[in-house]
Amino acid sequence: MNARKWLLGIVATLGLAAPLTASAQGELVLYCTVQEEWCRPMVAAFEKATGIKVLMTRKSSGEFYAQIKAEAANPRGDIWWGGTGDPHLQAAEEGLTEPYKSPKLAELQDWAVRQAEASQFRTVGIYAGALGYSYNTEQLKKKNIPEPKCWSDLIKPAFKDEVQVANPNSSGTSYTMLATMVQLMGEDKAFEYLAALHKNINQYTKSGAAPARAAATGESLVGITFQHDAVVQAVGGAPVKIVSPCEGTGYEIGSMSIIKGAKNMDNAKKWYDWALTSEAQSIGAQAKVSYQVPSNKNASAPPQAPKLAEIKLINYDFVKYGSSAERKRLLTKWDKDISTLPK
Ligand code: F6P
Repeated sequence: MNARKWLLGIVATLGLAAPLTASAQGELVLYCTVQEEWCRPMVAAFEKATGIKVLMTRKSSGEFYAQIKAEAANPRGDIWWGGTGDPHLQAAEEGLTEPYKSPKLAELQDWAVRQAEASQFRTVGIYAGALGYSYNTEQLKKKNIPEPKCWSDLIKPAFKDEVQVANPNSSGTSYTMLATMVQLMGEDKAFEYLAALHKNINQYTKSGAAPARAAATGESLVGITFQHDAVVQAVGGAPVKIVSPCEGTGYEIGSMSIIKGAKNMDNAKKWYDWALTSEAQSIGAQAKVSYQVPSNKNASAPPQAPKLAEIKLINYDFVKYGSSAERKRLLTKWDKDISTLPK
């Protein structure tokens, strides 16, 4: 036996040739914008259910919006799953995503269907969650700072360098905060508030949920995030208290869109339909990695999920703040007027 035949024999015996052959069901390139801990069990369950090989990357909402726009002439992604609704709506308006009416729409909550209708069915709601903040109870006691309860507490001098939030350009969470302040206070007051808050910010992170982890470990006293991201830390045993700010707060409709010109369009639709089922929408809670409110009416929210009906929510204008012109305008203004301010 010559060396080549001998090598081929070993490859065949060990089954090493298998990874070189593509899955019979093909592939799916998934852009995932929830926490990686939730992306992974979703991918595993979908691969098991369909035999489709999923190639997944995780990035924040604003980052994937920018990437999908940059790749529009030659799309590399097939489906964008998760992330705040605003950049999904912006992508829809700019024609970067594909219209699709899933047969599963009938099973969804009204707020999820409204998101689809607002975008001419180029995106759809997959979960909802309210903005807020969490603080490390041990650190607060040690520093002898009174308990914060409102947005206005976070700009007090006692919180100098004690607050963490993401950058609204990369993070949908932080853009939701920016748009929430504008809706809650009016634009001038909102930018005054953000300028005052800037003095107390120890770091603008890339990802929206990172400040919840920083508050959990005590690296930052306060983390501004969606409340469900702080629940993940609390359930994990971290000494954190979650605050629904007294003035009221905004919320997200986490969304999903098929990328226009997707190379694996059929598989993208398979993921879309599957991700709207109550089974798929229960995976995150079962794995204790997601405490959002699911959009499928038959999927039950985990008991620890913040109850939206009990939170003072603003009437968030998703259409306005998800429009291309408004999102661009507010982000440019934040870059110019806030990010450049001295501390
Ligand atoms: O998965 C957690 C989560 O907060 C989602 O609810 C949200 O849509 C997404 O992360 C936002 O991430 P980012 O702020 O990094 O864009």
